[in-house]
Amino acid sequence: MKVAKRIEEVREFILEKRNQGQRIGFVPTMGYLHQGHLSLLEEGIEDNDILVLSIFVNPTQFGEGEDYEDYPRDLDRDLELAKKVGVDLVFIPEVDQIYSKQSATTVRVEGLVDGLCGASRPGHFDGVCTIVTKLFNIVNPHRAYFGQKDAQQLAVIKRMVEDLNFDIQIVGMPIVREEDGLALSSRNKYLSKEERKAALVLSRSLELAQDLIGDGQRRANIIKEEMRNMIEKEDLAEIDYIDIVNQLNLKKVSNLEGPTLIALAVYIGETRLIDNLILEV
Ligand code: PAF
Repeated sequence: MKVAKRIEEVREFILEKRNQGQRIGFVPTMGYLHQGHLSLLEEGIEDNDILVLSIFVNPTQFGEGEDYEDYPRDLDRDLELAKKVGVDLVFIPEVDQIYSKQSATTVRVEGLVDGLCGASRPGHFDGVCTIVTKLFNIVNPHRAYFGQKDAQQLAVIKRMVEDLNFDIQIVGMPIVREEDGLALSSRNKYLSKEERKAALVLSRSLELAQDLIGDGQRRANIIKEEMRNMIEKEDLAEIDYIDIVNQLNLKKVSNLEGPTLIALAVYIGETRLIDNLILEV
């Protein structure tokens, strides 16, 4: 497994592989890899000849007062895991490799970034779109893999790829959960034992929504209210948002129909967790 810190090393490696007719898969991450990331890597290895992983905690997608400095990092462990699953190249740039002092360009997808996480994290998706564009231009992959846990991120990136004519296939991969339902996230590391237990309220509220829909409920307000009631019973939980939107355009729906995304963000203590359910109604 090759580890590259510099953009030119990546370009050289990729050019050689592309000249040999090899297909390049790419998994961008901020590291602190968990089983969710590994599922992306495994799929990427299966679908492509070469798999590139990037590990870069991107400062421009963190807002003021967010956890950029504290974001969990463990490069040695990440590299070990990457090697074990069979990654070919890991790109681990420093911030100044990616952002020069003169940098003046931001990539922004309008509309899709206004609601859900975008409402409470202004500028977050501009940071995501900018770094993903840069990484796509550096790695030049045929396919790129993203988790559906960040459902809004996935929708925004798909829009961006179409709008900017990137010749890259975006592959969304299902949420990976612990046995008790907690969606895997690098931020789960912040949770105390008590908070870890309380965090189950996110997946439980989605299960409740699924049951209600199974029983024929289609009214978004009623489903959201039931979810809210359940979450509010948990002392350590504070709701940021619960929303039900069309999965493709992320517009709020009042009656569930077609591809639907039920998404929520909840603070468990200081830690903001997200989870979602995608279903065809
Ligand atoms: O999903 C993430 O980990 C990040 O938002 C990404 C896509 C790697 C961009 O920094």
